[in-house]
Amino acid sequence: MREPLPEKPKRRVRYSGKNPRQFHEKYKEHAPERFADDVAKVIASGKTPAGTHRPIMVREIQEALKPLPGEIVVDCTLGYGGHAAELLRAVQPGGKLIAVDADPLELPRAEARLLGVGFPAESLVIRRMNYAGIAQLLGQEAPGGADVLLADLGLSSMQIDNPARGFTFKTDAPLDMRMNPERGLSAAELLSRTTAKELTSWLTEYADEPNAGLVGTAIIQSLPVSTTTSLAQIVRSALPPTVKPEAAEDSVRRVFQAIRIAVNDELGALKMFLRNLPGCMKPGGRIAILTFHSGEDRLVKHAFKAGLQDGTYSAITDIVIRASPEEQHANSRSRPAKLRWAVLNPTD
Ligand SMILES: C[S@@+](CC[C@H](N)C(=O)[O-])C[C@H]1O[C@@H](n2cnc3c(N)ncnc32)[C@H](O)[C@@H]1O
Repeated sequence: MREPLPEKPKRRVRYSGKNPRQFHEKYKEHAPERFADDVAKVIASGKTPAGTHRPIMVREIQEALKPLPGEIVVDCTLGYGGHAAELLRAVQPGGKLIAVDADPLELPRAEARLLGVGFPAESLVIRRMNYAGIAQLLGQEAPGGADVLLADLGLSSMQIDNPARGFTFKTDAPLDMRMNPERGLSAAELLSRTTAKELTSWLTEYADEPNAGLVGTAIIQSLPVSTTTSLAQIVRSALPPTVKPEAAEDSVRRVFQAIRIAVNDELGALKMFLRNLPGCMKPGGRIAILTFHSGEDRLVKHAFKAGLQDGTYSAITDIVIRASPEEQHANSRSRPAKLRWAVLNPTD
């Protein structure tokens, strides 16, 4: 029998012009470990390299959570693994990270990255799941509760920037928007089952869109809407002529945010998580939650305040923490972020 021919090495993607413009063409940014200098230049220009995510408020989160050697830390939104790596480093030797994410495409990459840094495999428990169910996982993996827990809500840069995921209107793609594309309805399918009244309420509640009624009605009248750019165009055309082009793009961004929140039932997951959170922690355990829009922040603020009043928490953030001006300048995605923390009552 003849030996099979060795596989030809894959050629890198060709792009026209001097610099790659499309997400999939940016092969250097997708391999930061091999092209560290090029990636550093992208970061220095205030951008997030394609296929990566820059963790937000790392110092502020470490200060709030104070992870110590030997402790159990939980990352409810692993993403690229930036925060997880910092937490895991701080709990060595002897500590353990339990991390989850809903995204089946990015999760194995984050796990490989953490193992690649050299953390021992036995210090890591990683599961693909919705953090709404984190209490069940911790019941098995940390029955005595966690010392430290972080949730950094919303989307990762890998999800936003990858046009195939359907979160961005900058590139034409199927209107998907699922964090887990293997479960539930895509945005196009969800819209086809939604009324104008329901969509209008999402645009108001999830994104504070001032022209929610006009835009919601126009989208439903234009169904089926199957691509990102066609949705964006319907929104622009529905706005009153007095709305300036820049403000129209803000409306498009808000509409995408509202539909994405509905597709992934983001506030439903957050409510269930906040309800079960105290039961996940050891007495004196520290929690930090990073939110990116007012709907999320309101839920966290109210849950922490109610927990302080009924004695579940012994201390909570009094003033919401924002990224420093330097970080906001260096990473525009940190601008809307709000950090809140809470400490479980140590005497419980
Ligand atoms: C802002 S990113 C986290 C980035 C991460 N802290 C880092 O340093 O790379 C948010 C992540 O949360 C995940 N996510 C959002 N909602 C989720 C949910 N309900 N359950 C599990 N994961 C969720 C997303 O898939 C995404 O990967």
